[in-house]
Parts: sequence; structure tokens; C-alpha cells
Amino acid sequence: MIEPIRLSLPKGRVLNEALKLLERAGIRPEGDPNGSRKLMFPDQEGWLQFVVLKPVDIPVYVESGAVDVGIVGSDIVRELDVDVYEPLDLGIGQCRLVLAAPRGTTLALDQELRVATKYPRTAERFFASRNAHVHVVRLEGSVEIAPLLGLSNGIIDLVETGRTLRDNDLVVLEEVERVSAKLIINRTSMKMRSAEMRKLIAQLDTVVYAHH
Ligand code: PRP
Repeated sequence: MIEPIRLSLPKGRVLNEALKLLERAGIRPEGDPNGSRKLMFPDQEGWLQFVVLKPVDIPVYVESGAVDVGIVGSDIVRELDVDVYEPLDLGIGQCRLVLAAPRGTTLALDQELRVATKYPRTAERFFASRNAHVHVVRLEGSVEIAPLLGLSNGIIDLVETGRTLRDNDLVVLEEVERVSAKLIINRTSMKMRSAEMRKLIAQLDTVVYAHH
């Protein structure tokens, strides 16, 4: 029997948007994925197996081939710098990665400056492109609190509605990059199962373009 294609979906904010996009592309999970805590479930046609993963783990699974395909934010793909095939921007999960700081402060980009982020490599690249030597502090979450407690002067983090920044009295100083969800595919899977992969890409491609 041929193994189903394993498609990983990001746990969290983008999960429902991803399921809606797949539904429009005619790809439906068997049963209600929100109705249980199961992290793996098949699609109705039986050629796919969905795997719900923490977004930051998806590129690792896809690069290694443990799963064949992933839907995950471009912020994470760029931060982890993995070697995967990246055929499609899905247009969902749109937000921005920004440099932000407490209202009323200005940030001089020099060695005294400390910036907290979940995206240390992206942050280093951003400051390097400005020829700025900034101290990057790596955190795992709730980054907005760091400048309020004096751990850092500013942050690089995602902004979607802007509510988290506003509620913590931070303002955007600069956009680092625009973010949206990508389809990523393991390079070997792309070659070994090219007919199925091309079918999947084509199905999604239609609805991505219909959507904009
Ligand atoms: C993200 C991001 C911001 C917030 C931005 O965090 O890191 O904190 O969402 O969204 P907003 O502009 O709509 O307020 P998330 O909620 O994913 O949790 P995390 O901090 O644990 O990563």
C-alpha cells in the first residue's frame, strides 16, 4: 500500500485559516479536527495524512522528510533557513515582523542597544544590513514585556492587529519583513511523489489566486 502524503499544519492562529483554504481546494479532513486532541488525522479521499505541529517545528520535519509537506509562516522558514522546496505563497496568516520600542523612545542602532526577539537570526541579518551592531536577546514568547522590564530597549516581533503593541505601549519603528504562510515541500518527496505533489500544488494554486 502507498503511504499517504503527510501534510503538517501549524497549531495556533493559522490552523483554521489553513483548514478553510484546504476546504476551498477540495481537501477535507475526515471528522472534525477540532473535535478531538488527536494530532494526526486523514483526509476524506485517503491520500493525505494531516499532522498538527508547533509552527516552529514544521520546517525541521519537512526538511528531514519525516513529513512531506508543510504550511507555515515565512517568518519561520526564513529564520530557520532550511533547504526545502517552496512552491507557493498561500496568502493566509498575513502579518508583519517589525522593530518596535516603548512610545516616546528613539533607538540609536549601536552596540549599547539591546533588542529582544524570537527571531535572532532574522534580527542579526536585519541589523547587519544596516551595518549596525546591536545586542540581540533571544526569547521564546511574550517578547513585548522585555522593554517594559528593562531587559531590552526594543523588540523585533510579529504584529497582526497591533493590539499587543498598543496594550503594552509600544510603537512600530520599522518594518523588518512582510509575513504570510507558505507551502513547503521536502525535496526528495517532491521528486519521488511528483504527480501527487503537482496535484496538491495545482489544487491550492487555484484557490490562492481566486482568493486575491
Ligand atoms: C504573536 C506575536 C505578538 C502578537 C501580535 O504572539 O508574537 O505577541 O501575536 O498580534 P497582534 O498584533 O494581533 O496583537 P502569539 O499570540 O502568537 O503568542 P507568543 O507570544 O506565545 O508567540
